[in-house]
Amino acid sequence: MLISLTLAVDALRPIVPCSLLSLSMVPFASCAIVIGGVSWVVPRHVAQKLDNILYKSYMRLCLFVFENLSGVNIYLHGINGGEEVCKMKGTPENVVMVSNHQSNVDWIIPVMLAARHGDNGNEQAFRVMVKNSIHLVPMFGWYIFQHGYIYVRRFGEFIGAPVLRQLKWLNESIPPYWLLIFPEGTRLSAKKKKLVESSNQFLGKSGRQPMQNVLCPRSGGLQLALDNLSTLDAIYDVTVMYGQMRMSGRRGLAPGMFDFCCGAQTFKQLHIHLERIPIGEVPTEKLELRNWTIERFAQKERIIDEFYSENPSTGSVLLPCVPISQTLPSTLFFTAALLAPFFSPVIRRVYLLTIASSPLLIAWLHIRKCV
Ligand SMILES: *[C@@H]1O[C@H](CO)[C@@H](O)[C@H](O)[C@H]1NC(C)=O
Ligand SMILES: *[C@@H]1O[C@H](CO)[C@@H](O)[C@H](O)[C@H]1NC(C)=O
Ligand SMILES: *[C@@H]1O[C@H](CO)[C@@H](O)[C@H](O)[C@H]1NC(C)=O
Ligand SMILES: *[C@@H]1O[C@H](CO)[C@@H](O)[C@H](O)[C@H]1NC(C)=O
Repeated sequence: MLISLTLAVDALRPIVPCSLLSLSMVPFASCAIVIGGVSWVVPRHVAQKLDNILYKSYMRLCLFVFENLSGVNIYLHGINGGEEVCKMKGTPENVVMVSNHQSNVDWIIPVMLAARHGDNGNEQAFRVMVKNSIHLVPMFGWYIFQHGYIYVRRFGEFIGAPVLRQLKWLNESIPPYWLLIFPEGTRLSAKKKKLVESSNQFLGKSGRQPMQNVLCPRSGGLQLALDNLSTLDAIYDVTVMYGQMRMSGRRGLAPGMFDFCCGAQTFKQLHIHLERIPIGEVPTEKLELRNWTIERFAQKERIIDEFYSENPSTGSVLLPCVPISQTLPSTLFFTAALLAPFFSPVIRRVYLLTIASSPLLIAWLHIRKCV
């Protein structure tokens, strides 16, 4: 009896954080719709402030799950890069982050860094350049466009007006922005041998060394950002490595969200190599930028190689977990919001209405020509 109960609890463990994050999208969207409505009557900056508070608290809920519940050890590598960014106080910077992409957990890394940047955390600044198809995710797809995420089509050079509008909006936004870009365009895993082959064929043609740990990056997204964001302060070049990938037979296989939150503790480490590059040092001419981007990824290739080696680099710092005082209020808020419909028929109705309106929200994106 006791054993089966323990087993049941163990099996349920991953379900708790995952349902917390996904179900919270319903109260979140309800609040966002209310803010959207309010924005018709109050000044724009007031609505934007409310939206930032809402988004920031959801990001803090995510941090609670991915840092506190997961118990992951976070190591910063690189000469001062990560530390410098985490110690930076005062007004936060405007930043484009360029990262390798191996897992559906990768997006949380900028949030972890943002939580430690500036006077009071900078989580609200976080945006991502995402695949167009994500706009179809109920509620989430609609919301992230409101918050300044940028939808791009993976194939073709076509740059739509919505992309430029969105960039212009970010460029002029007064609270700082952090825009995450994955130049590889897709998630790399050891299982996707074809991707690595075609990437290496391309590299070979231009006389470059083959790469195994990353794909040859495309610089289109970065070019777009550099050309349209003249308020940028710096680029953060981030290389993300997961401790689990050093387990035998796991090379090139990053943990997913379940594994990251609930997998064995022994290998639960996150290694972040960060280099801060002042914007003045980044080329803007097309071919030069392409070369520059490929060179950055060649460096990632070396960093990851070293990570897999017998004696990985010394000189990393263990980052303390984000304080519970920073994440607990949001966690309690969303937990309460999820329990509320069991007690209040009004809230139950509001949530049902929100869920029912999700196709309309997607339609709205199309009507307003946002995607
Ligand atoms: C998560 O929060 C609890 C409560 O404050 C704390 O005891 C625990 O150490 C935290 N976990 C980590 C990994 O810091
Ligand atoms: C934005 O970027 C695109 C593509 O790089 C460029 O053609 C366009 O001129 C840029 N817009 C502005 C206002 O600079
Ligand atoms: C970005 O914003 C700055 C400051 O408002 C402005 O000077 C600049 O022209 C804008 N850049 C683009 C490409 O629109
Ligand atoms: C880019 O790199 C290629 C190959 O390494 C080189 O031939 C070319 O001159 C470089 N182009 C620029 C603009 O730096």
